[in-house]
Amino acid sequence: MKVLRTIAELRQELSLMRQAIRSNASVVGLVPTMGYLHQGHASLMQAARQQSDIVVLSIFVNPIQFGPNEDFDSYPRDEARDVETARSQGVDIVFIPSVKEMYPQATQTTVSVSQLTERLCGASRPGHFDGVTTVVSKLFNIVQPQRAFFGMKDAQQVAVIQQMVNDLNMPVEIVPCPIVREEDGLALSSRNVYLSAEQRTQALVLSEALRAAQEAADTSVAINAADIRRILREQIASSPLAVIDYAEIQAFPSLEPLADQEEVQGRDDLLIALAVKFGKTRLIDNIRLQKSEVLSRV
Ligand code: PAF
Repeated sequence: MKVLRTIAELRQELSLMRQAIRSNASVVGLVPTMGYLHQGHASLMQAARQQSDIVVLSIFVNPIQFGPNEDFDSYPRDEARDVETARSQGVDIVFIPSVKEMYPQATQTTVSVSQLTERLCGASRPGHFDGVTTVVSKLFNIVQPQRAFFGMKDAQQVAVIQQMVNDLNMPVEIVPCPIVREEDGLALSSRNVYLSAEQRTQALVLSEALRAAQEAADTSVAINAADIRRILREQIASSPLAVIDYAEIQAFPSLEPLADQEEVQGRDDLLIALAVKFGKTRLIDNIRLQKSEVLSRV
C-alpha cells in the first residue's frame, strides 16, 4: 500500500497501477474521508475493494466545509492508526494531501448545488455543502475514479453529490453504503469521541426515535408526516441533554419536505432525518422508510 501526499505522486502511481492491470476497463474506486476512521469507513473500503480493481482512500480534513465556529481545529485526527486501518482493508493508495497541496492559493472556484443544500444540515451549516462539493469535485478530478463510495449516514451529502454528478456529467458512479451502528444503535461517527459518558448514553435517543417512527409507520393504519415529526420530537425530548436541530421527514433523494397532512403509508421514497446537539457535539442520523430497512449493527 502506498501513502502519497502530492497530487503529482498520486497521478503517477495511479497511471503505473492502471498500466500494470493492462486493462482499459480497470475500475478505480475512491473512498473520500476526513480520517479518524471507524467501522463505517471500513465498510466503505470493503465495498470499494469488492467493486474496484484499484482502491484509493483519501484522508483530508477539508477546511472549506467547516464554518467559522465549527470544529475544524479540534476535528479528531490519527494518521498512523488510519494508515494501519487502510492497510488492513486492502486499500492500494492512501492519499493524504496537506491543505497547501489542495488549496495552494485562495480558491476562486466553488462547486455549488442549489436547492438540495438549502434544507436540513444546509440550513444550520451555511456554506458547508459548497465546501463538500468543491473538495469532492477536486478529488474526482485528481483521482478520476469510476466509482466513489459514501456512507448513508450523511444522506443529504449523498443526494447533493449525486445531483452534482448528474448536473455536471461527471463520469463517476456514486455508491451509497449503509449506516453502520454500535451494538446499542448509535450510528458510528468520528465526532462520537467528543461525547461525555452521559451524552453518549443519551445520544441513543437518535436511533430510538428513528426506530419508534419506523415502527409507527409500519404498524399504523393511517399516519401522516405530522405524526412522524411528533413521535420523533417526543422521543428526543425524553433525553434532557438533547437539543433538536431538525427532526424531519422528506422524500429522498429530492429532499422535498412532506406537508403535515401527507400520508406516509405506501411510500418507499421517504427519509426520516435527525440532527441533535449534545453540548457542542452535533450528531446526525437517518433511516429510509422502507419495509425492508432495519437498523443494522456493527
Ligand atoms: O463525509 C465526509 O467525510 C466529507 O464530507 C467528505 C465527503 C470526505 C468531503 O470532505
